[in-house]
Amino acid sequence: MVKTNEKMRVAIIGCGMIMTEHMEAWSGIPMVDMVAAVDIDSAKIATMKKRWGLAEAALYSDWKKMLAEVKPDAVDICLPNHLHCPAALDAFAAGCHVYVEKPMALSVAECQEMIDLAARRNRKLAVGFQQEYNPATEILVRAREAGVFGKIQFVKGRLLRRHGIPNYGVFYSRERGGGPIMDIGSHLIDLIHHVIGRPEAELVAARTWTSAGNQPCDVACAMPGWNHQDYDVEDLAAAQINFKNNIVLQLEIAYCSHIKEDCIYDFTLMGEKGGGYWCNNKPPEIYTNVAGTMMNLTPGWIANQGRPAMFKAKLQNFVDACLKDSPLLIPGQVGLQTQIIIDSIHAAAKAGKEIKAVNAKN
Ligand SMILES: NC(=O)c1ccc[n+]([C@@H]2O[C@H](COP(=O)([O-])OP(=O)(O)OC[C@H]3O[C@@H](n4cnc5c(N)ncnc54)[C@H](O)[C@@H]3O)[C@@H](O)[C@H]2O)c1
Repeated sequence: MVKTNEKMRVAIIGCGMIMTEHMEAWSGIPMVDMVAAVDIDSAKIATMKKRWGLAEAALYSDWKKMLAEVKPDAVDICLPNHLHCPAALDAFAAGCHVYVEKPMALSVAECQEMIDLAARRNRKLAVGFQQEYNPATEILVRAREAGVFGKIQFVKGRLLRRHGIPNYGVFYSRERGGGPIMDIGSHLIDLIHHVIGRPEAELVAARTWTSAGNQPCDVACAMPGWNHQDYDVEDLAAAQINFKNNIVLQLEIAYCSHIKEDCIYDFTLMGEKGGGYWCNNKPPEIYTNVAGTMMNLTPGWIANQGRPAMFKAKLQNFVDACLKDSPLLIPGQVGLQTQIIIDSIHAAAKAGKEIKAVNAKN
């Protein structure tokens, strides 16, 4: 569709908070022309003209109309989670490649529908997780591949906010794909699953609690003022995932939790021969025995770990896949694997007992 010497024509659908990081990244990718923007909020769409220089004629409030009139090569979906699947299906039907922000969709069934249509239309489908592009993550992946950890046994991951309920958007509405498991937990799950080699989940147990989000906010915090009466998601979750290869993963995820720090985002990995530690914005650590001594290893040099670098890398990977047919690091199939774990955690919490992991073919 796009000839190699042509620019790829991209439209962005959803121009809220994350749009800025996407537009900054798109601006640094020369093989792309931003040809349209879509948002139902007139203030947000006005920003696309004022701040990002799109022509008046390129601004839309309806993605179907935009797809029909502009006919972009690809769309970048930055909509609330419940709209990822419908917008992606419309875009595939219009012949577009799709980049969709995380989490991929509301459910395994929606992810499968997106993957199937992308395959039928021979279009690329990329999912917007970014920690795969973090050099710290890559160091741990290479260590695992090189056998530094031996057989991985146990992993403990935490993405805990002390008081961090988003006070914008629809992040605390269950039917719109909100809640910390979907919103921030999806990053943690995708990241750990990538590092441990994407084993298949077998058994899942989980508990969730709601005790802060549904109450009026009575403490000083960075994001006050959400509508507690509309809050119908968990604010704290704990889960254990047993994978078929015997790795056990424990997760702690929260918008609100009585912890010392503002936010903890990390995981610890233990294997037969070595262990690893990943912490957001920090170099990784590796623990192993060298010639009879317990050693703590840190990289002598690490590349830029900042969000702008990760966002540029993730969109560049998508552009390369569309233009050169190179492999996607996070295709729909990977988004689906993360969704299997998310759906399983929700199902286990609802069942109140350990369950078999949700299967993509169920
Ligand atoms: N990768 C990351 O680190 C990261 C960070 C934040 C958000 N996200 C993801 O990005 C997506 C958007 O999040 P956000 O923080 O920008 O939320 P947001 O609420 O700020 O933005 C969503 C935008 O979609 C618009 N919208 C809603 N319904 C629409 C419709 N029917 N048609 C057109 N526009 C519509 C809203 O007006 C809003 O401007 C979510 O999926 C979120 O999970 C990813």
